[in-house]
Amino acid sequence: MPTRAPSTARENLGLGSTAHVDLSGHYKNTTLHEDERQVDMQTVIARMALISILVAAVAVTGAFAQNLPGGRAEVVYKDIKVMQGTAADHLIPSMQHFEAALGVTCVHCHLADRAASTPMKETTRRMMTMVKAINASTFNGAKEVTCNSCHRGATEPEANPELATENYKPWSPDGANGVPDLPPVAGPPAAQLIDNYLKTQGGEAGLAKITSRVVKYTATNSVGGVANMELISKGDSSVSITRGNNGDAVIGHAGNNSWQGAANGAVRDGREYEFDELRLQDPLYIATHLKTMLTNVETRRQRIGDQEVYQLRGTAFGRVPVRLSFNPNSGNLLRLVYLLDNVYGQNVVRIDYSDIRNVQGAAFPFTWTIARTLGFQTVKVQSVQQNVPVEVVRPTPPPARP
Ligand code: HEC
Ligand code: HEC
Repeated sequence: MPTRAPSTARENLGLGSTAHVDLSGHYKNTTLHEDERQVDMQTVIARMALISILVAAVAVTGAFAQNLPGGRAEVVYKDIKVMQGTAADHLIPSMQHFEAALGVTCVHCHLADRAASTPMKETTRRMMTMVKAINASTFNGAKEVTCNSCHRGATEPEANPELATENYKPWSPDGANGVPDLPPVAGPPAAQLIDNYLKTQGGEAGLAKITSRVVKYTATNSVGGVANMELISKGDSSVSITRGNNGDAVIGHAGNNSWQGAANGAVRDGREYEFDELRLQDPLYIATHLKTMLTNVETRRQRIGDQEVYQLRGTAFGRVPVRLSFNPNSGNLLRLVYLLDNVYGQNVVRIDYSDIRNVQGAAFPFTWTIARTLGFQTVKVQSVQQNVPVEVVRPTPPPARP
């Protein structure tokens, strides 16, 4: 079994500094990710020249490439061989998928310069090509087989099935292994679940009266790191702030414009997953958009532990599969699961809400647990203020030094 070397775990868990845990439950490493995209000026200029040569060709072949979030990986990064033609915004989530599937951190494959060649990168490239080929030849190109299908958190997959233990239990009772999968049982109509939920929020009339909301909370990660955070929502915009000793890290959006601001003042466009997570993790956004943000809607009867729940499933923003579980009696939102896409699979996030209190007529959870493959977080809300004067604007980076 692989181990996570303590020194490298820092890279993932953001322990090197304080301001790295964000509401997304992600142990952000703002500095690292910021660096990931730094392309030196020479390269940029060279590529701009290349791009202008290619413009004519793009105009002919259509908008195919332009729709990739963040542009093409090979334009943004330096040494892309296998992921050519994929979205730059999906590169880091794909890397995180590798980490979780193999139970390693970035440094298992990379040197500090991520573009530098290593034997492990070459092995990985063969794996990436293999996975793509399996899915293309056998699963119509759907991402059925992922790195995790074989690796399951280990660098060397087990070729042989496991041996029995003292309490021989080869199949988990809920799993599909060995027992027939029960057909999914439909729940009440989606409109009814949404209506019941909106009632917990004071109904649409009540929601309309909430012009802004400021939530202050602490977020504690799996290894005890605590961050002071704030979520400010106003109309169709919001910003998540991580307070740090050396400045605040922010992720915000105003309508469809999203951004990430590092503690050092650097600002860049938000990546697709940052934008999606920001909206999905804002209870006010969910409440005000639940009727319109989902497509492919269906419902299920399910259980969370021994509690029966009604689940609403659908696709948010046309791309993120989400599952919302509601208490059948109170209508409260108990759990939100969403699956963020990457090139090789999906990164799953689960948020459980508890300690639900009434804040001026709207139910609001004061405790959240956010679980994802690379970390676990507990959110404790300290205060919720509504209709306070706030502004959500994209920060302007400080002017470059002359
Ligand atoms: C299992 C091996 C593996 C792991 C773990 C991994 N990477 Fe990668 N990474 C690769 C490979 C292989 C490529 C090249 C992909 C290609 O050729 O298309 C790459 C490419 C990159 C690039 C593009 C570099 C450039 O400019 O060309 C960045 C940035 C990157 N990885 C960051 C990370 C980060 C950050 C982590 C940890 C969160 C990470 N990687 C984890 C294998 C890995
Ligand atoms: C069909 C099964 C299968 C899939 C799917 C698969 N691998 Fe592997 N992988 C293996 C096997 C088996 C080995 C060990 C080979 C050996 O020991 O020589 C391995 C080894 C590796 C290694 C070398 C690990 C080390 O520390 O020596 C890396 C890195 C790796 N895989 C990355 C990936 C990535 C990334 C993906 C997804 C893109 C992936 N693999 C998907 C079967 C698979």
